[in-house]
Amino acid sequence: MPIPVSRPCIVSLRGLGVTLTGAAGAVEVLRGIDLDLAPGETVSVVGPSGAGKTTLLMIIGGLERPSAGRVTVAGHDLRALDEDALARFRGRHVGIVFQSFHLIPTMTALENVAAPRELAGEPDAFERAREELAAVGLDHRLGHYPGELSGGEQQRVAIARALVNRPDLLLADEPTGNLDAATGDQVIDHLFARSRDKGATLVLITHEARLAGLCGRTIRIADGRIEAWETKPPEPAMDTSGGPAAPVEAQQAVSPAPAQGSPDHHTTSPPVEAQRAVSPAPAQDSPDHHTTSPAVPAGSGIHPRTSRTAGPR
Ligand SMILES: Nc1ncnc2c1ncn2[C@@H]1O[C@H](COP(=O)(O)OP(=O)(O)OP(=O)(O)O)[C@@H](O)[C@H]1O
Ligand SMILES: [Mg+2]
Repeated sequence: MPIPVSRPCIVSLRGLGVTLTGAAGAVEVLRGIDLDLAPGETVSVVGPSGAGKTTLLMIIGGLERPSAGRVTVAGHDLRALDEDALARFRGRHVGIVFQSFHLIPTMTALENVAAPRELAGEPDAFERAREELAAVGLDHRLGHYPGELSGGEQQRVAIARALVNRPDLLLADEPTGNLDAATGDQVIDHLFARSRDKGATLVLITHEARLAGLCGRTIRIADGRIEAWETKPPEPAMDTSGGPAAPVEAQQAVSPAPAQGSPDHHTTSPPVEAQRAVSPAPAQDSPDHHTTSPAVPAGSGIHPRTSRTAGPR
């Protein structure tokens, strides 16, 4: 059964395979992933440690290259982009919150957050960076270096940095992993609100079922494959004719998925309805609705390119 998703897609993966080679030999990390994501959709990615979740995020964000298959994001075939074009693509379209922050240690919190916007040539980089840091409750830590911040504060700086260019696609890898419950809830509210306000697609890797349940869709990865997906049923609202709301699949098949994932969903929605993923949506190119990128200096590498453990260049 095809994975239901609205068109146009902001992310389209077809036959995605990733093989990584380390000292211990080659590892097939992702195998045959087919996936479409709609603009404004909120999607959680869950699965056991080592399943390939971070790798999937890195591929979508243009930080790692696939070994096989096609990756189309915001209208760009990422295989066709060289390193400079990929850096421009990221600066224009993608905000990533890394599992291990990847802040630049020699830059203050303010400079870390401003950097992607400066590299995009925007004159308001520091003003916007201040706003983003204030929004995550860090306006009193602007001049602190990462080494002078707690883990949770560093995480919030990383979130502010991911948001500073107002991306179409927000990729967050366990963004609450270092936060206490109250701060984690605030950060999640913030990410969902920004996704909703901007109509940005939010992809959230999490080990917390509660957070996964806030998203419109949950994709379960196991051993490098999509093992299952779950789509949240519609809110128990009546349509204008007085009948029950259309099923989620039908809604998604005919119109862009509405920006979902308001924390309100969490308190009002019934449990997600499990459905098995057997086959992908039919292959279809993403629309060419994001074809221009502002000039960004070559190798603007705010994000680490090839290694998740190396710091940014
Ligand atoms: N450079 C590499 N060479 C070989 N294997 C690698 C390399 N980098 C990662 N892997 C392997 O790829 C697999 C998937 O890693 P990934 O980081 O995507 O997992 P994950 O699902 O995000 O796990 P976690 O929940 O622990 O963060 C792991 O088994 C890991 O050991
Ligand atoms: Mg991971």
